[in-house]
Amino acid sequence: MAKALHPADLEFGNKAADLLLPTENCIDLHHIGVPAFIRYPAVRALLIQFVALLATLILGVFLTLYSGTRVSWWVLVLIQGSVAAGITWRLEMASWWIAIQLLFVPALVVLNTLQWPPYIYLTIFVLLLGLYWSTFRTQVPLYPSGPATWHAVKQVLPAGSFRFVDIGSGMGGLLIDLARKRPDAEFTGVELAPLTWLLSLVRGKLSRSSARFLCRSYEDLNFADFDVVFAYLSPAAMPALWSKARTEMRPGSVLISFEFPVKGIQPGFMVTPRADSDKKLYCWTM
Ligand SMILES: C[S@@+](CC[C@H](N)C(=O)[O-])C[C@H]1O[C@@H](n2cnc3c(N)ncnc32)[C@H](O)[C@@H]1O
Repeated sequence: MAKALHPADLEFGNKAADLLLPTENCIDLHHIGVPAFIRYPAVRALLIQFVALLATLILGVFLTLYSGTRVSWWVLVLIQGSVAAGITWRLEMASWWIAIQLLFVPALVVLNTLQWPPYIYLTIFVLLLGLYWSTFRTQVPLYPSGPATWHAVKQVLPAGSFRFVDIGSGMGGLLIDLARKRPDAEFTGVELAPLTWLLSLVRGKLSRSSARFLCRSYEDLNFADFDVVFAYLSPAAMPALWSKARTEMRPGSVLISFEFPVKGIQPGFMVTPRADSDKKLYCWTM
């Protein structure tokens, strides 16, 4: 069993802050009888697109019939994007959705004018599917951490041998780096997106890493099998992750979350990997 961590074990100390970062603002649809699938932001965004499209078509027909003016396609496209962005803003979805909603249909129209052959769209679709897979459900996109974070994680690892898992290991950069620096420990990565997992597997083989990479959801793991669980997920994933960690992790084992705290749960200690960034490692010793 790995030794429990304490802030004093760190090479560089960080004071635990009193405040936790707020998670993303969003109207909570869980308690107002909305069907489960509409709770996924991507599904809501698509429905909003259809509503905005319908509203814009009605407006276009109305203007043509009653004022006799033919509104150009481009004006209609911009109106559709603005209506979609307006509804998205009104529903208090995350700010990046507002930009996506504004530009979605205009981007489709521009792509259509390029007249690319269909296989290009199919290739892009398959690549994005392989890399992002069920991001619409998990709300955790592929977004790799970097060397400063890997270095900070290394500083909080226990002495002696231990079992470490990166839940959502992405392209495998963190694990390959740590496995090289801590040959006395066992490193496992689980990744849901098949192409992302394949890339991490190939990278691991090419660099002769001892880290192993599994293509599966961390929801299917038993966290009791690990001494350190590392997560770089998203605010949306944190409540379920915390509940799983509390249920399964053994006393003395450590949960580390990069960038995302658990709302209302004070971490045991925090580490700031980069002086020019607020992003932290939030660490809880169970
Ligand atoms: C923000 S990236 C972090 C990548 C990596 N841990 C790093 O530090 O570079 C999150 C990754 O988690 C993956 N993911 C999301 N939900 C998952 C799940 N339930 N099980 C396994 N992987 C998941 C995503 O596909 C994505 O590659």
